[in-house]
Amino acid sequence: MTYLVFILIILNILILIAYNKKKIKKHFYKTKILEKDITDLHSIFNLKKVSNDLKGPTKNSIVKNFCITPENQIIGMTSNYESWIISVLSTISKNILEFGTCSGKTTYLMALNSDKDSKIYTITLNPSDADKIYKKNGDSKIAQKNIINETIYNKFLFSGEPEEKKIKVFFMNSLTFDESNFLDKMDLIFIDGGHTFSVIKNDSEKAFKMIKSKGVVLWHDYNPGKNSSKDVVRYLNSISKNKEIFKIKNTSLCFYQKD
Ligand SMILES: C[S@@+](CC[C@H](N)C(=O)[O-])C[C@H]1O[C@@H](n2cnc3c(N)ncnc32)[C@H](O)[C@@H]1O
Repeated sequence: MTYLVFILIILNILILIAYNKKKIKKHFYKTKILEKDITDLHSIFNLKKVSNDLKGPTKNSIVKNFCITPENQIIGMTSNYESWIISVLSTISKNILEFGTCSGKTTYLMALNSDKDSKIYTITLNPSDADKIYKKNGDSKIAQKNIINETIYNKFLFSGEPEEKKIKVFFMNSLTFDESNFLDKMDLIFIDGGHTFSVIKNDSEKAFKMIKSKGVVLWHDYNPGKNSSKDVVRYLNSISKNKEIFKIKNTSLCFYQKD
């Protein structure tokens, strides 16, 4: 009898752990990067007080958005809140660069919400080159596998739409991308390409050279405890000792704003 009770208690504990895996992981893997509210990045995100318990957007932060229906099964997308943040920043950005296009969801939002004379550059691997990506020493295996799984599009959500004329797609490996034509030019850079250490380091170092004064660099997938984000977390934790990088509350985004 006591043996049975013991087994039942253990079973209950295991079920509780399985159901709360995310919460438990979150507890043990606390962010090492200081968290900030999005309003600390820019006043455009300040909300309008509707009543004591309700706050809403101002005219400046109402943006164009769309929904990707579940049947598309696109992986590695930004959340609604993250998409809104990037869209709002796009309204005040003339030159934008994205590492990692995938379906083109974020690229399209950037184009829909920026000025008509804004320019959006996006760098992505061509599916025909996906098998030529080699893992470097120290790169996460799962992040490497995800690169191959996500490199499947050469037509994007914005293909054939009027906004396409604002977008320049570079089908190439970002490791060979020459940033020297864009030094101090970009208002907004979104780093969401390969999540291996070697790629995230390469993309970030190039971004620091391309971002202009007051410009903003954003990284996606800073998720401590998540296996596929391991290298993003490791890289950002390491550079945050010398660079002012902050995590945006309630997102997996980190930001850096040049002086
Ligand atoms: C997570 S997805 C990007 C999602 C997209 N930014 C969005 O918000 O919808 C990653 C993309 O990065 C691309 N990628 C991965 N490694 C790359 C590399 N070394 N150079 C260029 N693109 C890369 C993949 O082909 C894939 O399209």
